[in-house]
Amino acid sequence: MFKTRKIGHVGFWTRDLDKMQEFYTKVLGFKVTSRSGPGAKVPGGSCVFLRCDTTHHEVVFFLAPADAPSLYPRAGSSMKETKAGFQHIAFELPNRKEWLKALEHIRGCGVEIAYGPIVHGPEGDGFLQGSGNRAFYFCDPDGNYIEIYCDIMMFEEEEKTSAESE
Ligand SMILES: [Fe+2]
Repeated sequence: MFKTRKIGHVGFWTRDLDKMQEFYTKVLGFKVTSRSGPGAKVPGGSCVFLRCDTTHHEVVFFLAPADAPSLYPRAGSSMKETKAGFQHIAFELPNRKEWLKALEHIRGCGVEIAYGPIVHGPEGDGFLQGSGNRAFYFCDPDGNYIEIYCDIMMFEEEEKTSAESE
């Protein structure tokens, strides 16, 4: 059996990215690692990565349509759904060896891998959304979307990200 180290991060859909970013920074003291989408330097899906320590992110919010239905109750789940609320939970493994062991074990249990295995990226030009981690995704029996990853980007606490220095 592979070794899981800890819960690494949790992803949520939100109807209001600004409001969530403000709440998590002002009320909970999180820092913005990067933000993408309209109005940001980085094209693509709108999301904001937030951290409370030196890990690239502990929480990530993805923008859902303003009229997205509420999360509960729900049946099934996937990265493509746009309901406000829980999107995925990520478990951190200590290294690539354990991560590969997990992939083999989980596949061997008959679980369908929904996305991956991939390495998140790219990054550059101040773009830190590419957290660099190796990851794959699947659903538990209730349809909760789960990520298994290792090697996420870490940086010194005094380092400013592009999002913070703007
Ligand atoms: Fe994730």
